[in-house]
Amino acid sequence: MKLGFIGGGYVGLVSAAGYASLGHNCQVIDIDKKKVDAINNAVAPIYEEGLDELLKKITVSKHLVASTNYSDLANCELIFICVGTPSGKDGSINLSYIKSCAEQLGKMIKLQDNFPIIAVKSTVVPKTTQSVVLPLLENHSGKKAGVDFGIAMVPEFLKEGSALSDFNSPDRIVIGVNDKKSSDALKKLHSHFKCEILEVPLATAELIKYASNSFLATKISFINQIANLCDVLGLDVDDVAKGMGLDSRIGKQFLKAGPGFGGSCFPKDVKALMHFSSQNGIAPTILESVMGVNYLQPQRMLKLALEATGGGPANLIGKTVSVLGLAFKPDTDDCRESPAIPLVEELLKMNCKIQAYDPKGIDNFKKLFPNLQYAKDMESALAKSHACFIVTDWKEFKKPISYYESKMAFPLIIDSRRILDAKTKAKAIYRAIGKGGTS
Ligand code: UDX
Ligand code: UDX
Repeated sequence: MKLGFIGGGYVGLVSAAGYASLGHNCQVIDIDKKKVDAINNAVAPIYEEGLDELLKKITVSKHLVASTNYSDLANCELIFICVGTPSGKDGSINLSYIKSCAEQLGKMIKLQDNFPIIAVKSTVVPKTTQSVVLPLLENHSGKKAGVDFGIAMVPEFLKEGSALSDFNSPDRIVIGVNDKKSSDALKKLHSHFKCEILEVPLATAELIKYASNSFLATKISFINQIANLCDVLGLDVDDVAKGMGLDSRIGKQFLKAGPGFGGSCFPKDVKALMHFSSQNGIAPTILESVMGVNYLQPQRMLKLALEATGGGPANLIGKTVSVLGLAFKPDTDDCRESPAIPLVEELLKMNCKIQAYDPKGIDNFKKLFPNLQYAKDMESALAKSHACFIVTDWKEFKKPISYYESKMAFPLIIDSRRILDAKTKAKAIYRAIGKGGTS
């Protein structure tokens, strides 16, 4: 099939690459010319495992082509809208990219005489596809949905860092549709996937996405609160999570306590669902708590450090401090809403000299904090520092504590993800979120 993707970010590019690898002809459209050139030169503008190698294959075979020009979407059977849906100041969803995209698509459809199907993949609040996208498409094309073109909502569930494998082995595919031709085309496109394909009304598909992300975020805030209790009680949260997760009704995943959830989706989507619920007269009390816990969680890292050094800030003020991990999770270069951001802000208030390191995220973090000292590797980030904060659980940070001790001036280690083996410590003052009694 000839497929179009508007927006060549994490969602659009990974999805296009995935479908291209299955033999479809994929046209990516992005307003960012630099991104378009990079994609056509087989250089992924983001770090995602396996993406560079895949791009090399599919750009050479011309199964994937990028451009800035909507007219290149002519004759696409299916066009996926994958532009960003950022948060407004009040947490509500900002639909300006979606609207501009629908307007331009409408003008493009006007010139088409096939039956293109427009599928929204961006995360949008319920009824956006029906009440915002569809009228814009009709008004700018002079054509009728269901008669001249199809409309659908197909949410994505790709995790950064494992997005290509998530694409190839989805847990489910959700298809929101209200016309048969769109339903048939989307089922055909996904027919070889082994998982269940769930066909639902447009707004149900939209809400499934928000409810899924918000539920996963709830699990994380829940276990983080239990982790903080474990700190006080001297218990290990991983034991508690294991005991909970073995109950198949609860499940093992997304019970890893840490410095709080970040990324381009969870914080933005929970806030948007809160705002949307309130607008619809349903108080989002659970989600308020989820965000409340998540807002405070990065501060736990500092709290543990200050408690370990006598309670007040005196022992950290002006000191050299290592921050290991800037990306919001491992295996990505994405730093959006990373828990490292509030931590660095607090450390800067204390005039700490920060030596920051991340295997992939430095360039993106530099855009937020241009003046930090960025280390070329983990060893130089640790050199002569008085405290080390492990924020992201990159594999390369998992070393014996003696390694940390040998590099640091004073080995105070705050391990927010519990990746180090506390038993191997000698001199170090080791504190970990959710692992009470580690001193
Ligand atoms: C984003 C959202 O975070 C996610 O919730 C939603 O489901 C899809 O969009 P992501 O792919 O991570 O996911 O966004 P981003 O990396 O910002 O990519 C969006 C791309 O769209 C960018 O490359 C941007 O240049 C492009 N874009 C944006 C357009 O091509 N046209 C526009 O009008 C706006
Ligand atoms: C998420 C959703 O999982 C995906 O389905 C959706 O479509 C896009 O948003 P992503 O943000 O890429 O994916 O990463 P995810 O693995 O879900 O992690 C999100 C955040 O939660 C990260 O900051 C991660 O460190 C944190 N997390 C995750 C935990 O703190 N504990 C966990 O157990 C799991």
